[in-house]
Amino acid sequence: MIKTTQKSEKLFQHKTPCLVLFCPEDKKPAGDLKKIDQALNGPVASAFKEKRFEGKPNQTLLLNARGAMKADNVLIVGIGKPKEVTEENLRQAAGTAASLAEASQFKRVTFYIPEGDLEKALTKDKKQSSGETARAVAEGSYLALYHFDQYKSVAKGEEPNRIEEIILLSNSKAALSNLKQASARASIVAEGVYRARDLQSQPSNTATPTFLANTAKKIAAKHKITCKILGEKEMQKLGMGSLLGVAKGSHQPPAFIILEYKGGKKNDAPIAIVGKAVTFDTGGISLKPPANMDEMKMDMSGGAVTIGTLQAVASLKLPINVVGLIPATENMPGGSAIKPGDILTSMSGKTIEVLNTDAEGRLILADALSYAARFKPRAVIDLATLTGAVIMALGHFAAGVLGTDDNLIEKLQASGTLAGERLWHLPLWDEHDKATQSDIADLKNIASPGVGAGTTMGAAFLKAFAGDQPWAHLDIAGTSWGAKKPYTPKGASGFGVRLLVNFLEQEANSGKAKSAKKHGK
Ligand code: BES
Ligand code: MN
Ligand code: ZN
Repeated sequence: MIKTTQKSEKLFQHKTPCLVLFCPEDKKPAGDLKKIDQALNGPVASAFKEKRFEGKPNQTLLLNARGAMKADNVLIVGIGKPKEVTEENLRQAAGTAASLAEASQFKRVTFYIPEGDLEKALTKDKKQSSGETARAVAEGSYLALYHFDQYKSVAKGEEPNRIEEIILLSNSKAALSNLKQASARASIVAEGVYRARDLQSQPSNTATPTFLANTAKKIAAKHKITCKILGEKEMQKLGMGSLLGVAKGSHQPPAFIILEYKGGKKNDAPIAIVGKAVTFDTGGISLKPPANMDEMKMDMSGGAVTIGTLQAVASLKLPINVVGLIPATENMPGGSAIKPGDILTSMSGKTIEVLNTDAEGRLILADALSYAARFKPRAVIDLATLTGAVIMALGHFAAGVLGTDDNLIEKLQASGTLAGERLWHLPLWDEHDKATQSDIADLKNIASPGVGAGTTMGAAFLKAFAGDQPWAHLDIAGTSWGAKKPYTPKGASGFGVRLLVNFLEQEANSGKAKSAKKHGK
């Protein structure tokens, strides 16, 4: 991760090429910003007057300090109306500033995080500490400064500018340890997101199922995670006919990746995360049209997010048990590929009539959900780029969440809101379940024409395999790619890692609280 240092120094004494100050939306500059403005002869006040800068979310004003202070330049970023500011505002503002600083050729950037000041502007009823503010700021800048550039040749001397150091500046010595902790946590989480984004961005001729399996193994070896890979033969033994059916069209062998992190008590039921990993989705015999088909290299986003999350959870040493399950395969047309009308027998024993080979995600997840039951998990959360329909419904602004456990869904939504990874709850009714019934098999993988509700129909199909496990399904087809934000560069987002880490952190804490109660503490 980008080198980060924490400093406590007087604002005017701090030497840096670029000093970032957050500014709430107001009539004129106040507090430290007012002092700086006065020293600079009022450029901020006049920007307010002329409405060039009013502290609106992600508005920026870059000023040269002209020797009035030790910093060379001051970058002011808006965070919106006081009392309406959220952690997400700060994350975005930090991302905006970090990107602008990088584009402005600075090598180092300092964020000023004055004790108490920013916290007062935050909406939270509970008091926000400088640590939490710093966490959002560090996270936003790390995420914004992500680059996937391993395939780009650059001539010597023409390397693009990169920020090499982030400095978190406080006006209080006492806050330093908070800032340290905050940036350490942010860096672990951002590394998890980087991991997911790297895997999503890799083209499918590199990121094959075998590549994902090897990556998972490498990460597991570095952390307290065990990793097991099931190959074709083992899948056959288990009767994973649904997953193997999808894999049949490809020359690349499929892999079923099993990651286990045991940070909790030995016998505590784990939380299972299941991630769809179609390393390329051509649609199969029900071939997709050519426009933007290249983007289907990201159809393994669920798997990428699962890997990134387990990495982060293990690095944070969360006291909780987590299992990651990743069915990985290509979806290709070919002489051996499944064809519309084919019937597959899944691990559960249920038969599936494949009416469209492009509805392959639900086929591989069916067997993965059956396999999840072996761990007797206290919750199963699957993440999948499952339907184009979720983009129709929610755009790139939120993922769909559906499932059988409203409590679990509510918790996931709350974690998502905190992370700036929104989930929108879509219905899943008996009528939808009925529409998955096939005339000649137990289920069909797409509903009859005219039923609509594409995202829900995907979930209704999965529900038949989730059984009675408390289960939630996240359709991340819209949020995994092209969901541009100040801290999400073009392309892969890693959507889901931060949401899941928040959720698992909460679950780990409530687990600890429960056991403390039990022991009379
Ligand atoms: N991987 C796609 C869904 C997708 C679409 C992801 C756009 C990301 C962006 C999935 O396998 C798929 O093809 N779904 C079909 C389902 C249909 C055949 C019922 C779809 O959404 O068109
Ligand atoms: Mn498909
Ligand atoms: Zn797909």
